[in-house]
Amino acid sequence: MDSIAIRGGKPLHGKIEISGAKNAALPLMVASLLTEETLTLTNLPHVADISTLTNLLCHHGSLAVMNGQQSGAGSSSGRTLSLTARDITNTEAPYDIVRKMRAGALVMGPLLARVGKARVSLPGGCAIGTRPMNLHITGLEQMGAEIDIVGGYMEATAPNGLFGAEIRFDTVSVGATENLLMAACLAEGETVLENAAREPEISDLIKLLRQMGADIDGEGTDRLLIRGVDRLYGTEYRVMPDRIETGTYAIAAVITGGEIELLNTSADLVRSVLDVLIEAGADVTESKNSFIISRKSKRLNGVDIMTLPYPGYPTDMQAQMMALMTIADGAAMITETIFENRFMHVPELSRLGANITVHGHSALVRGVDHLVGAPVMATDLRASVSLVLAGLAAEGETVINRVYHLDRGYERLEEKLAACGADIERISSGG
Ligand code: EPZ
Repeated sequence: MDSIAIRGGKPLHGKIEISGAKNAALPLMVASLLTEETLTLTNLPHVADISTLTNLLCHHGSLAVMNGQQSGAGSSSGRTLSLTARDITNTEAPYDIVRKMRAGALVMGPLLARVGKARVSLPGGCAIGTRPMNLHITGLEQMGAEIDIVGGYMEATAPNGLFGAEIRFDTVSVGATENLLMAACLAEGETVLENAAREPEISDLIKLLRQMGADIDGEGTDRLLIRGVDRLYGTEYRVMPDRIETGTYAIAAVITGGEIELLNTSADLVRSVLDVLIEAGADVTESKNSFIISRKSKRLNGVDIMTLPYPGYPTDMQAQMMALMTIADGAAMITETIFENRFMHVPELSRLGANITVHGHSALVRGVDHLVGAPVMATDLRASVSLVLAGLAAEGETVINRVYHLDRGYERLEEKLAACGADIERISSGG
């Protein structure tokens, strides 16, 4: 397994192009199952989850053509993927794929809506919490599906098709909102989704579905009204910029005391993160499709954060902000309200010298003068990247093991950071 070695302590200076958003791209790709025509997505990030989901869609019978520019040195112009699901030849989403990537379970709604059946592996527990599927299941049942759990699979049928329903989520769920939104587009009649997620990735999905011919009101609100249509059509769509990658590199600038211009993105996408960074001591200069972020002051201030559904502070940026707070003056209370077990990075950050105490859903971070490099390992994507950020700030060498987590969600991470002066290299386990 590859690892990444970082010799920290260098302020980063330069420009980073932000890739297309992984968490937007995955549901957009699944939407291709709703039509027999071709959906072409541009600005796709070159990350492992995209390949895993492409394999799943091909397993269902889709034809996938990746004809964009292969990402390489000096380019992050994104890739283009055309998906054509002319016939659904297999309605099973196997354990081997869905266990690696929970987004695989999003095929359930579209398959039910298109062909009336789906057999989808339960994604199971994962490193950040139990992550149940109850909201997806009860919502689809309200729309007329019959779903049994047999041998670790959700076996779903809609013998009479799917029908519009009034569905109220008792927890805000990005995935359940996406799954039901897609299903409702081809259901008979009107569906209302109350307490729906409002994340920008949901708006991206709504824009695509509308372009495919869907009838959806309420974009950007927590109440979505979907009037089912008989069919959807092929189209071409550009994936939105990755707001979590944007926020992560913004913290890279601040944690190293450097200055980075983030291109092909916007400050509006990461407003809640920038608010915290500015309070901590960062300077931000905004332009239309880019912004410059720097740390001018020598020391940072500790700032409390609490993760919340959008437009609140994102859970996917909690670990990275914790890395920053380890070297801020004073203390910062970090409260995680979305996932019950998303502090796996705490013991690893502590190995670098951080002073963090976890009390239930909150972590009290007492800032230290500096971090010192050490070998570390992480169990999920954002925890891994928080260790990269801490390693960039730490004195000496940090070696991050199990980097396959990073490869799931960050395109050419070492290359982008090295271009800004980071001393970072991948150590291949093969070599
Ligand atoms: C999406 O996961 C993202 N993944 C996650 O990003 C992100 O952390 C999460 O939304 C929250 O923003 C993708 O978009 C592919 P949820 P999702 O359903 O949809 C509970 C990353 O690092 N819940 O919004 O799976 C659940 O347990 C990943 O890129 C139920 O109780 O998250 C959690 O506590 C990690 N029942 C809360 O809702 C359900 O049926 C929010 O989860 C579904 C969810």
